[in-house]
Amino acid sequence: MLLKKRLVVLFSVLFLGTLLYIRCNSFVQNEYVITPIATHYSGQSFVGSVACMECHAQIYNTHIKTAHYNTSSIASDLTIKGNTSLNENELDVNDSIYLKIEQNNGLFYQKAYLKDSDSLITSHKIDLVIGSGVKGQSFLNWRADSLFQIHTSYFTKSNSWIKSPGFRDSILQNNRRTSARCLECHTTYVETRVSDSQKNRNAYNKNRFINGIDCERCHGPAGEHVKFHKEHPKKLEAKHIKTTKSLTRQQQLDACALCHSGPRKLKMKPEFSYTIGEDLNKFSSPDFFSTRRELDVHGNQYGMLMASKCFKESETMTCATCHDPHKNERSNTSKFINKCISCHDKSSDCSLDMTTRTNSTQNCITCHMPKIKSKSMFKTTAIAKDTISVSVYSHHIRVYQNSID
Ligand code: HEC
Ligand code: HEC
Ligand code: HEC
Ligand code: HEC
Ligand code: HEC
Ligand code: HEC
Ligand code: HEC
Repeated sequence: MLLKKRLVVLFSVLFLGTLLYIRCNSFVQNEYVITPIATHYSGQSFVGSVACMECHAQIYNTHIKTAHYNTSSIASDLTIKGNTSLNENELDVNDSIYLKIEQNNGLFYQKAYLKDSDSLITSHKIDLVIGSGVKGQSFLNWRADSLFQIHTSYFTKSNSWIKSPGFRDSILQNNRRTSARCLECHTTYVETRVSDSQKNRNAYNKNRFINGIDCERCHGPAGEHVKFHKEHPKKLEAKHIKTTKSLTRQQQLDACALCHSGPRKLKMKPEFSYTIGEDLNKFSSPDFFSTRRELDVHGNQYGMLMASKCFKESETMTCATCHDPHKNERSNTSKFINKCISCHDKSSDCSLDMTTRTNSTQNCITCHMPKIKSKSMFKTTAIAKDTISVSVYSHHIRVYQNSID
């Protein structure tokens, strides 16, 4: 009798349990559907930073003001920094040809004219802008599914147009193929048409093109992460995403070195295949034999930092020690000085007293990370050989005899 009662109780519990289980599951069946904007080689989906806003609002709001986020965009009067109505809106190619950037119904063109007759010889639409404009911008033109860089670039320091860095003197050039490597450092993801054929390395899928260095460029495609947390709003532990604490120091450095270690040589793996947490050296290696290896706009902050005692003799220093990757902190000198002082607070660290060390014209940064002039990004002024160059902070932190800039 007792046994029968117990069995009834047991079955009722099981029955109710099953009911509850089905009901709970039907809650989860409020399934979140991922709408990918592109799909990575790994099969993971990109969903874009708008999908992160809901749960990471603070990061999102500062992120969209960074040079990273704005480093590539569709051409418009908001994204092209140069003034097309500028008096100086002309660029000499040689003795017979000059260029103008003209605006027509909100579209932008680079037009080439003959000097003696002012007759139009070529016209190229500006479709994409590379560079947020801190130092300058270059412009790309779509021809079918291929991208080409045009002759003109914008130079912020002089607010004028210049010949694109690396282009030849006196020759009108609009046919420089834009390689996937170029886009790899300036966009989040681009689907290449002929993924790793050597022949046609500049064919892309226009509909699978994510401009700017967005969240998922650094953190990896996050479709699964968004899906999980949308479906489980009470779970506060990060799922389907690499967390910072799970990464070694080298893995954290690699996430920046991908683009901040100068030109790199690819190792049989297509552009855009690397994602955070992987060993970057398996994808590409620093190109020490390149002629462009010196510190420049396409700089090597990683290599320079690695050579510094600060890096070698501290165990935890990464780029994030000084830089908050989610904020635009350009020229926030006092913040950076405080970072130096957080490790160098002893007066014996530097013979200068603290007030002399931290003023606006002379401080830790100007003396120990002096600016060096770019050899590729400059404008030659009317006075022969006189050039205006951009300057880049040296990340080789050390004692310099005299600051260079
Ligand atoms: C529905 C909410 C939700 C959405 C949408 C969401 N996340 Fe998260 N995310 C979380 C939660 C919860 C955590 C764990 C707690 C935390 O670290 O904030 C997390 C953690 C993370 C972490 C790990 C941080 C660390 O190192 O510990 C990263 C990186 C991240 N999210 C990136 C993204 C990106 C990129 C997107 C957009 C593509 C996104 N998240 C969208 C909820 C969300
Ligand atoms: C996908 C390539 C890429 C990755 C990855 C990347 N960067 Fe950058 N970074 C760039 C480019 C391109 C610029 C120049 C943006 C511009 O002004 O157009 C830049 C600019 C910067 C700047 C200057 C910002 C300014 O306001 O002038 C800092 C600082 C920086 N990156 C730090 C980092 C750190 C730290 C990491 C790693 C957490 C990192 N970057 C990862 C490509 C990258
Ligand atoms: C190895 C990664 C890498 C590649 C490849 C690369 N860039 Fe860059 N580029 C950078 C980084 C990093 C910066 C920012 C450097 C700095 O501020 O010191 C930058 C800066 C720039 C700037 C100035 C941006 C600004 O706001 O001042 C322009 C313009 C630019 N790159 C154009 C190009 C073009 C065009 C290509 C391809 C033909 C290209 N880059 C290829 C990493 C790269
Ligand atoms: C330039 C690369 C880069 C970009 C772009 C980027 N992050 Fe991060 N993110 C990092 C790094 C590096 C860390 C670790 C910071 C540290 O070690 O202090 C981090 C940390 C985080 C964290 C955990 C720590 C925290 O600050 O709460 C979250 C969450 C996160 N990122 C989300 C995002 C979202 C969302 C976006 C876009 C809106 C984004 N990230 C864009 C590099 C990046
Ligand atoms: C994470 C801690 C840390 C931070 C942050 C840091 N340093 Fe260092 N730095 C060190 C260590 C450790 C050494 C080696 C021991 C020493 O000389 O004090 C060092 C060495 C130096 C040296 C001597 C280099 C040489 O070759 O003799 C200078 C100069 C220096 N740091 C300046 C700076 C400046 C400027 C900043 C800020 C931009 C800075 N450090 C940020 C830890 C740090
Ligand atoms: C006017 C230029 C100048 C400024 C500003 C300056 N330093 Fe120095 N620093 C030097 C010179 C020169 C030396 C080498 C002689 C000495 O030790 O005084 C030096 C030495 C050092 C050293 C020790 C190097 C060694 O040989 O071990 C450290 C660490 C250091 N400085 C950190 C800092 C920090 C941190 C700041 C900002 C709070 C700063 N310095 C500001 C010029 C400067
Ligand atoms: C010890 C502190 C420190 C560390 C670590 C550090 N930086 Fe910087 N970085 C600076 C300072 C200071 C500036 C100048 C910022 C300013 O005033 O706008 C700077 C500027 C930059 C710029 C702008 C380039 C320019 O010259 O205009 C880039 C890009 C950059 N850092 C990338 C990196 C990367 C990538 C790493 C890691 C490999 C890194 N930084 C590590 C202190 C640091």
